Amino acid sequence: TTRKLLLLPGDGIGPEAMAEVEKLVTLLNAERAAGFETERGLVGGAAYDASGDPISDADMNRAMAADAVLFGAVGGPKWDSVPYEKRPEAGLLRLRKDMSLFANLRPAICYPALAEASSLKRELVDGLDILIVRELTGGVYFGAPKEVVDLGNGQKRGIDTQIYDTYEIERIAKVAFELARTRRGRVTSMEKRNVMKSGVLWNQVVTETHKGYSDVTLDHMLADAGGMQLVRAPKQFDVIVTDNLFGDMLSDIAAMLTGSLGMLPSASLGAPDETSGQRRAMYEPVHGSAPDIAGRGIANPIAMIASFAMMLRYSFAMVDEADKLEAAIAEVLESGTRTGDIMAPGCREVGTSEMGDAVLDAFRRK
Ligand code: NAI
Ligand code: MG
Repeated sequence: TTRKLLLLPGDGIGPEAMAEVEKLVTLLNAERAAGFETERGLVGGAAYDASGDPISDADMNRAMAADAVLFGAVGGPKWDSVPYEKRPEAGLLRLRKDMSLFANLRPAICYPALAEASSLKRELVDGLDILIVRELTGGVYFGAPKEVVDLGNGQKRGIDTQIYDTYEIERIAKVAFELARTRRGRVTSMEKRNVMKSGVLWNQVVTETHKGYSDVTLDHMLADAGGMQLVRAPKQFDVIVTDNLFGDMLSDIAAMLTGSLGMLPSASLGAPDETSGQRRAMYEPVHGSAPDIAGRGIANPIAMIASFAMMLRYSFAMVDEADKLEAAIAEVLESGTRTGDIMAPGCREVGTSEMGDAVLDAFRRK
């Protein structure tokens, strides 16, 4: 098999973290016959500097043709005065839009070694492993009308519109049920059907779609109560499926259950290709380009490496390798090797490439 992989390191700490994944790709090809064919492209400020656009058409075409895209981070003060439609973030938005990445997967995993540093009581989060599936291309962020109207009496009116069609809810529900099957088999759907018509439809369509997945347990929660439960007793959840707005907030809340931004991976999936069945997919750390620490070799590469592990699992069905890579991360943390952002008393502080090497070493021994 060949596996076509596009690497888009981007700006700031993006390239530094991506370099640690490239070591893993080299190892997987050399020692496990993984067959990765890697291309590199430019995105964000780096692409703007080179071509005048935050992603070139050529790199966009490469992304469309790849089996999976690994994205670093974009942005930084250098591009603050770039015109709005050329700003670094526009490169990321174009990738999401052109690849139709409608399902955003945000795991919240709390490694036992880091439970102490969590903002919650240790026993609440120790060993936490939940997955939030957020609808990413519909809902109130995109619905029309969307405008500020001048009412002419000194008042203005801000308007956003929440719209969800059956097919949009059905396809995100399917992703959630399919993922639950590979995990603990439980899905919790969150909406506000008590006050929103789109919530009523969401609830109905998820319930209907569930009929094809009788091996998965489904329950429903109002999104505000869900937010409370997420903080009160997060381990009750396995997969949470929710809309764009609630998913944005709930996944940021869940992120803070687990510690540093430098630890958090994500995936965005599109529809399956009609002939190959392969889903378009892009994987990226949750963090940004961290200009405050860029270029110093101290960024935590784990979010990037864990994003690559998600890619192995979801795009390439390399479940065994993904499990081993995640176990390698846990082992390195357990051994007390830490980058500055997750440093704790009694631990050994290392830089980006030392952390990457430690994970690589632990992975190789598995
Ligand atoms: P940020 O995530 O880049 O940084 C927030 C804080 O977390 C900083 O103090 C940073 O040093 C720290 N941090 C982040 N990742 C880390 C890592 N891997 N290891 C150690 N420490 C880490 O968010 P911020 O500062 O709000 O934004 C900086 C730039 O990144 C902006 O231009 C923003 O637009 C962009 N950005 C890009 C994103 C993307 O490409 N997906 C997402 C978020 C922000
Ligand atoms: Mg957010």
